[in-house]
Amino acid sequence: MVKKEDFMMKKTAIATANIAFIKYWGKKDEVLHLPANPSFSMNLDACFTITTVEFSPEYKKDTLEIVGEMTDEEEINRVSQHLDRFRKLAKTNLFARVVSKNSFPKSTGVASSASAFAALSAAAAGALGLSLSEKKLTIVTRLASGSACRSVPEGFVEWLEGTSSKTSYAHSLYPHDYWDLRDVLVIVAKNKKKVKSTVGMKIGKKTSIFYQARVKRAKVLIGELKQAFERKDLGKAGEIIEEDCINTHCVMMSSYPPLFYWLPVTFDIIRSVGEWRRQGVAVYQTVDAGPNVHLICEKDTVGKVLRKLERIEGVEKIIVNKPGRGVVLSKKHLF
Ligand code: PMV
Repeated sequence: MVKKEDFMMKKTAIATANIAFIKYWGKKDEVLHLPANPSFSMNLDACFTITTVEFSPEYKKDTLEIVGEMTDEEEINRVSQHLDRFRKLAKTNLFARVVSKNSFPKSTGVASSASAFAALSAAAAGALGLSLSEKKLTIVTRLASGSACRSVPEGFVEWLEGTSSKTSYAHSLYPHDYWDLRDVLVIVAKNKKKVKSTVGMKIGKKTSIFYQARVKRAKVLIGELKQAFERKDLGKAGEIIEEDCINTHCVMMSSYPPLFYWLPVTFDIIRSVGEWRRQGVAVYQTVDAGPNVHLICEKDTVGKVLRKLERIEGVEKIIVNKPGRGVVLSKKHLF
């Protein structure tokens, strides 16, 4: 019999970050990691993580290196815990070396957990020779980071809330080339966010009087957003995306202690977007758990949006994203 150790147990995967149009903010089951509402996102082709994972009997512990960045104990433990899920499936105790590289350094303040855990999952599963279906891969990835499960499938993705671990998974609603949308990602702060999403969600569920109302509304909005996508109706889709963004941030801000992820420049851009629309520029905004603003528009509007942004003070960097593909394996390893 050929033992697993006889194969080269090394694989590399590339996964993109995603922007939530209907957001995940709170769990209905902390143990099973089930979200309170289904969510909807677009993969971001220019914001990606490449990760190489190698399992070997020579490794005495799991190690993590993020090229050009510092890693801390907490990150290594999170990666190790996630690898345990794959070790369990493959019935192995082998440790792994993990090397990862982000196209958008942590210093940009863009959350990398979605792309990082989607890439880690696919590389780890591949390296251990596990042939998991995409659905199963999203389920396992969900356990590491909720939003990461949406970076596994292609293009525009829905994560179903489910009633059990097996029924809470992500699937592609439309391929990346379904609609030539753009996410003009406006980076306004280079610092890492202070309050982690998982912590923020728990505080929100416990203390915000708007928490349940927002969850209820998000379940309605996701249905309406799917209809708007069917018609490629940016006006309606944009209105829905903005409503869920504001509703979610109302929950964050009305939590105790309050979570203010926005900076003055974030608010400046949000207010300007409404004004730009009145001037005929079809662009809509959304913000995740941080101060950076995602401006959603169609391809032909990008130039106008970039010109408008020139007048905003405090913009550090702009990344224009197309709808991205799902996670893929690559033959080029990082080590
Ligand atoms: O999956 P987490 O723990 O990184 O939380 C994601 C939270 C938001 O980005 C604000 C919303 C979302 O659905 O991506």
